[in-house]
Amino acid sequence: QPAQYAPAIVVGSGYGAAVAALRLGQAGVRTVVLEMGRLWDAPGADGKVFPATTAPDQRSMWFRNRTEAPLATFLWLDVVNRDITPYPGVLDRVHHGDMSVYVGRGVGGGSLVNGGMAPTPRRSYFSEVLPAVDADEMYGTYFPRARRMLGVNDIDPGWFESTQWYRFARVSRKHAHNAGLRTVFVPNVYDFDYMRREAAGQVPRSALAGEVIYGNNHGKKSLDKTYLAAALGTGNVTIETMQRVVGVRPDPAGGYVVTAQTGDLTGRVTAVRELGCRQLFLGAGSLGTTEILLRARETGALPGLGEQVGRGWGTNGNVMTARANHLWDTVGACQATMPALGIDDWDNAGNPVFAEIAPLPMGLEHWISMYLAITRNPERGHFTYDAATDSARLHWRREQSAPSVQAAKALFDRVNRANVTIYRYDLFGENKPFADTFTYHPLGGCVLGEATDAYGRVKGCPGLYAVDGSLVPGSLGVNPFVTITALAERAMDRILATDPR
Ligand code: FDA
Repeated sequence: QPAQYAPAIVVGSGYGAAVAALRLGQAGVRTVVLEMGRLWDAPGADGKVFPATTAPDQRSMWFRNRTEAPLATFLWLDVVNRDITPYPGVLDRVHHGDMSVYVGRGVGGGSLVNGGMAPTPRRSYFSEVLPAVDADEMYGTYFPRARRMLGVNDIDPGWFESTQWYRFARVSRKHAHNAGLRTVFVPNVYDFDYMRREAAGQVPRSALAGEVIYGNNHGKKSLDKTYLAAALGTGNVTIETMQRVVGVRPDPAGGYVVTAQTGDLTGRVTAVRELGCRQLFLGAGSLGTTEILLRARETGALPGLGEQVGRGWGTNGNVMTARANHLWDTVGACQATMPALGIDDWDNAGNPVFAEIAPLPMGLEHWISMYLAITRNPERGHFTYDAATDSARLHWRREQSAPSVQAAKALFDRVNRANVTIYRYDLFGENKPFADTFTYHPLGGCVLGEATDAYGRVKGCPGLYAVDGSLVPGSLGVNPFVTITALAERAMDRILATDPR
């Protein structure tokens, strides 16, 4: 029997995990959250919790000797990345051959490092991707609930039109309109009122000080300020940090036994613990949840797991690109880090693309228009378990990214033609204008309705649930965290109402 026991264990503390923790706590279920990263609450020597993006340090990345920012170079120069000391920093880039995946590490998961963009997917595409989910219920109840709980808000259009901080977005909008494309405002979980006060010099700057991928010191409603704070407030939830879950096996007495490694700040494993529970909620993200399940299946710990575990993974069609503007089209040295506009060409049946107009805050005029395009890439990757390294390996070949690049290229060729502009070749390495070797939106691996039932109950394992991005089958058409949150809300409603505890 394990020394420690809790009725419910939640693995990870990103979106799905945070919803599970809050709803379990409210239902009176004593719950332990196990998170492999640290709690980001104490200031470092510079007086800040998170380092400036322009001066990354050990806090920036998860056990690295050098930062690995999405932009490799500027003017082909290696001026972006810095040597750092290995430490459990907030952003990780997990390498899997031809594809690497950016993820957040720490209490709050991806909410600590992401751009805060909070769109709701097109209903028609949502229904196509997840036909087993009742769209009326999602759009009537769970999407509105997720947006409210996450603190989603809209930028004031008047301020957007007048502030220097969104000049870059207005320039990109003009160029998109010149090509006959539509743009839309995209809601965000960064508090736009706070941002306006930043601009007015009334409060410390964060989004207006270049902060985003290595954490925001102010302004952003990350999960530690929303769902997780509320979960702790129930009095039934505790969060344990630097706990990496590596194993799951059935408890002969019922429920599950979880094996967790306690790590220290140097990366050493200082203890290995076992914790028992009646219900186990996996919210370790697409990569984390898939790895835990795959390892358990392949080592024989959970032989009941089906063949669908490890399948149906995709990049949400992510590809980044950048255009060079004419000298008179200045994008401004001052850029807010939170995107507020997107080019919405998803209804173009021949080439659906939703492209976020991304900032590139370098503190100088660079005439660059950046984009993160979300495309409809039908390719899917899968994971296998590698016994030698005791880890899950993603199988994704370079050519599987080609449909994403083709779709983005078709859209931005159009923008370039209309504005007589060209791509930038100096930013992503290999002299190429499209970054197609990393994703911010890993989705799938434990797909809803395939590896699980329609509510995330893992098939063959009663009392075991997936609640995170691993449920979404590889593509969503928009940035995913609102959907992950809403799906988790829907699943928790059902599980708490019907499943034995
Ligand atoms: P998530 O990845 O958030 O959390 C998983 C947690 O589990 C992490 O804290 C991790 O440390 C922990 N964990 C993993 N394995 C573990 C183990 N074995 N044991 C214990 N803990 C473990 N999305 C969006 O909608 N709008 C946006 O603007 C952006 N922008 C963006 C920028 C960047 C830089 C990134 C990296 C990502 C985005 N995203 C985004 C994506 C978004 O952040 C992502 O889809 C969600 O965070 C996924 O939520 P999950 O609940 O799946 O897990």
